[in-house]
Amino acid sequence: MGSQTRSTPGDFPRSLADVATDMDILQALSDYEQAALSALQDATSATDLEQVRIEFLGKKQGRLKDLQTLLGKVSAEDRPAIGKRFNAVKDGVTTALEARQQELAKPKRLASAIDVTVPGTSPRLGKIHPLTQTFAEFKDLMARFGFEVVDGPELEDERHNFEALNIPDDHPARDPLENFYLSAACLGNGEPTLLRSQTSTVQIRVMEGRQPPIRIVSVGRVYRPDTIDATHSCMFHQMEGLMVGPDVTMAGLKTVLRLFASAYLGGDVHVRFRPSFFPFTEPSVEVDVWWRDRWLELGGAGMVDPNVLQAVGYDPEQVSGFAFGLGIERFCMMRHGITDIRRFYENDVRFLEQF
Ligand code: PHE
Repeated sequence: MGSQTRSTPGDFPRSLADVATDMDILQALSDYEQAALSALQDATSATDLEQVRIEFLGKKQGRLKDLQTLLGKVSAEDRPAIGKRFNAVKDGVTTALEARQQELAKPKRLASAIDVTVPGTSPRLGKIHPLTQTFAEFKDLMARFGFEVVDGPELEDERHNFEALNIPDDHPARDPLENFYLSAACLGNGEPTLLRSQTSTVQIRVMEGRQPPIRIVSVGRVYRPDTIDATHSCMFHQMEGLMVGPDVTMAGLKTVLRLFASAYLGGDVHVRFRPSFFPFTEPSVEVDVWWRDRWLELGGAGMVDPNVLQAVGYDPEQVSGFAFGLGIERFCMMRHGITDIRRFYENDVRFLEQF
């Protein structure tokens, strides 16, 4: 044995070389222990940990195995103590490994634990879209004036969108480029069908189905291939109103619109009629309202054309009617100071949560 060859006679039974070797082994055990524990602490995943296990506790090779080989060199005298120390270090590292394994297997704690004693903040709830709020308000107001709220289809035939509204075949409003026609491929029966370009279609649908007196409003989408900008969208909303009966007059139309605009915009607003033309009303007007020191355009209106009454089987000698169609986005924009119609359709919460 190398250590014994280096021992000098007359020394203590254990040579210096032996002592050094035993102490070296003790030191090596301590170094090993420290390195293993800090490697375990540094491991942040199960894979890391497995690497550490193989390096420090591997059965076939690795640092523990090397130390075990060294044990063979320990003097007989020190062997029980160093052997004990070896086992203690081995057990300690094994226990630390198991503890770390369990620790890493545990779900991570939330970065900030919830303190249930802190007063709560109210949740950020969604809001009803400003246009949806406006529809509800419009319907509610008109219902209070005695108007029944009805719905109509958005997909229409030419009869309801044009013909029955006295819009002849060659009228520019019927130009396919001014409308969203469905392609023949979409149509079962082949009858030309389009996305309605106005809610006036509902006037016809209601009058076809019942007799006067009639007092209805209908709120819904209309579609026109406009170029989109701050004031135009290819889909927008209208509120259509129709009143038919024995004594329905232009004065009645003006009163209803003035009451409605005052109720929605607040204050006593003035309504003005400007001469205009629509194929389905005669006379026809554009309606403006005086609000915050300027005239604002509300939409079109007029007395229902006798041709339209006749087409649905009413007698224009017996009944008359008025109708109006108001742009809803414009109303809502006026009231809330919104300057770009596109905001309504972009779904930006920063905009939507203000209403
Ligand atoms: N439908 C017309 C439009 O969209 C508005 C209107 C409705 C005009 C009712 C008169 C009567 O422009």
